[in-house]
Amino acid sequence: MYALDEHTVLRHYERRDVPEYEVNVMRYARAHGYPVPEVKEVSGPDMVLERVDGPTMQEALESDRTQLDRNIRLLAALHERLHEIAAPPGLASVGEGDALLHLDLHPKNVLLSTNGPYVIDWANARRGHWADDVAQTIVVFWSALADPAFADREAIVHHVVETFLASFDRDAVRAHLPAAIARRVADANVGDAERAVTRRGRI
Ligand SMILES: Nc1ncnc2c1ncn2[C@@H]1O[C@H](COP(=O)(O)OP(=O)(O)OP(=O)(O)O)[C@@H](O)[C@H]1O
Ligand SMILES: [Mg+2]
Repeated sequence: MYALDEHTVLRHYERRDVPEYEVNVMRYARAHGYPVPEVKEVSGPDMVLERVDGPTMQEALESDRTQLDRNIRLLAALHERLHEIAAPPGLASVGEGDALLHLDLHPKNVLLSTNGPYVIDWANARRGHWADDVAQTIVVFWSALADPAFADREAIVHHVVETFLASFDRDAVRAHLPAAIARRVADANVGDAERAVTRRGRI
């Protein structure tokens, strides 16, 4: 990502054009009232986006641990709001269900502006069951367990997962975890240590 000016940023793809479904889904979610930065222009590998001023939710919760629970509840609310929207026609599916899913909706992909939160990074968006999205976020939370430099990681990750899960039906999420784990483990960007903790995860 590059800042272009005060009002815009550039998302640039290295080896391909911007996928059409990513642009479509961002515009569609925004048109349905969901907080997504406006897509201003798309040309080949470049997408110009409205610039959102503010830290990521990850930066915010690391700089002020007293805001951890409030942020995790906000993340859960962003999931719930998203899943009320039916997926647009033609969006690829990860299984049963017709909800619009982000599938990478975790604290690094939420920007906290003074106008409220914005959700970025829509390249994984698909159609499916709401619990697919919630399970995918839990799998991302577990990846912190692979970081040996993260003090108290077991206790903190457990607390974050439980705080997040409190907003959802645990049995439904549990049923969708194996598929979420399989997607994560299949991701070429995920290292061996993270694969191992991902496979051990339980709720
Ligand atoms: N609309 C925006 N306004 C301001 N900053 C943005 C915007 N979109 C993205 N960013 C910044 O760029 C970072 C990465 O964006 P994004 O999550 O969309 O890309 P990514 O594919 O995850 O890339 P990376 O691998 O670099 O994290 C964000 O953490 C944020 O700091
Ligand atoms: Mg991202």
